[in-house]
Amino acid sequence: MKKLFFENRLVLSAMAGINDAEFCNKQAASLVILGGFNADRKAIEAAKAVSARGRKEFIFEDPVEGIENEIKKVKKKFAINVRSATFEGYIACAELASDYKGILEINAHCRQPEFKAIGCGEALLFDQEKLIKIIEKVSEVTTTSVKIRGGLKLDYKSLCSKIFLAGARIVHIDAMVPEGGFDLNLISEVSKLGNVVGNNSFVDIKSGEEYIKAGAKMVSAARAVLNDSKFFEKMLKSEILSQPVEM
Ligand SMILES: Cc1cc2nc3c(=O)[nH]c(=O)nc-3n(C[C@H](O)[C@H](O)[C@H](O)COP(=O)(O)O)c2cc1C
Repeated sequence: MKKLFFENRLVLSAMAGINDAEFCNKQAASLVILGGFNADRKAIEAAKAVSARGRKEFIFEDPVEGIENEIKKVKKKFAINVRSATFEGYIACAELASDYKGILEINAHCRQPEFKAIGCGEALLFDQEKLIKIIEKVSEVTTTSVKIRGGLKLDYKSLCSKIFLAGARIVHIDAMVPEGGFDLNLISEVSKLGNVVGNNSFVDIKSGEEYIKAGAKMVSAARAVLNDSKFFEKMLKSEILSQPVEM
């Protein structure tokens, strides 16, 4: 399997309604995650309901065309973060990712009730048979990442072993702890199984380096970038965070 090469250890994490190509192109991270996008009718309807509650969402009437338009404009190594109620939605996006040499990131993370109700996002962590089938199908088409959320009553070691075995190249872990802070033990345990991108509360060089020292290959940020448009440039002052890496 050909390894993926990245110039530094920094990743822009998905932000629905924000991470379009224009926003991603401005970031000094070596990997940018476009979306989250909604890949089929049911996911689009759910996104409309979420948007009506005031949250930002990308709503494309033709999802494949809308996502392809963003991919065509992105000038960096990229992944597309995707929610879909159907296998077909994931496959269509995987084919797009493959055509443009990108990564398909399965969103098993989102906790908005409208998405969970149609079996997307975090709901997949509680229907692991379905999640594994999606990973197997998608990984036949393109390189796969699975975005998961920590802090739930789950056996993460068993879950992540299954995710890697099914063909995922990367597990992108939001290591949130419900009481606050982030769980470096979780990052450390899963990093023994395969490539990990660590996520949550990466706000400065110290927190970013902690993820890498715990075993993550790369570390991602979302909110810190909203607070400081030069966030990744500042993080590149770190010797560790600016190292090239293969996954
Ligand atoms: C406005 C906003 C939108 C988000 N949308 C998505 C999404 O569509 N898909 C996803 O996997 N995560 C999404 N996230 C979660 C982030 O990618 C990240 O996991 C989370 O914010 C924790 O990382 P941080 O502490 O660096 O912000 C979103 C976060 C924010 C703040």
